Amino acid sequence: MLKANLLAALTQQINEEYYSSYIYQAMVAYFADNHLDGCAHWMRLQAQEEHDHALKIFDYVISRGGRVVLAEVKAPPKDWASPQAAFEAALAHEKLMTTNITKLADLAQSEKDHATNNLMQWYVTEQVEEEANVDDILSKLKMVGGDGAGLFLIDRELKTRTVAPAGGAA
Ligand code: FEO
Repeated sequence: MLKANLLAALTQQINEEYYSSYIYQAMVAYFADNHLDGCAHWMRLQAQEEHDHALKIFDYVISRGGRVVLAEVKAPPKDWASPQAAFEAALAHEKLMTTNITKLADLAQSEKDHATNNLMQWYVTEQVEEEANVDDILSKLKMVGGDGAGLFLIDRELKTRTVAPAGGAA
């Protein structure tokens, strides 16, 4: 059985992961509206990945005999000043998620809950990849600046993203 403080923290993180999915889905709408189909495609897969992140914790809580009570998911932003600004927001958000996960891992360790710590280590590794992926795209966007031809090529590249292998996402 999970301790109450860990159950509360995990429940909060489920909400954060759903919010992550919501933000990226909002970015799908933004990119589609700006005819950047590759960016929209990349973000759609990202939103799905975040949904899987939420479910992975959700299922874990159930497996530990906990009761998940879902909370309201706040509305995401609607617009960004540019594709670069959207990816900057995505990177800032991922950094925030990394901080959350680190705190959860710290809590699991201090409570000597090895199973929860083990789960959080999966997220710790995942966050490294999440930040690196967004940072890579952001670097390319910065490289081309406001150049339309450069943005066209990046957008075409992002359209080739395939569903990530289920690296543990339940
Ligand atoms: Fe679930 Fe992108 O963090």
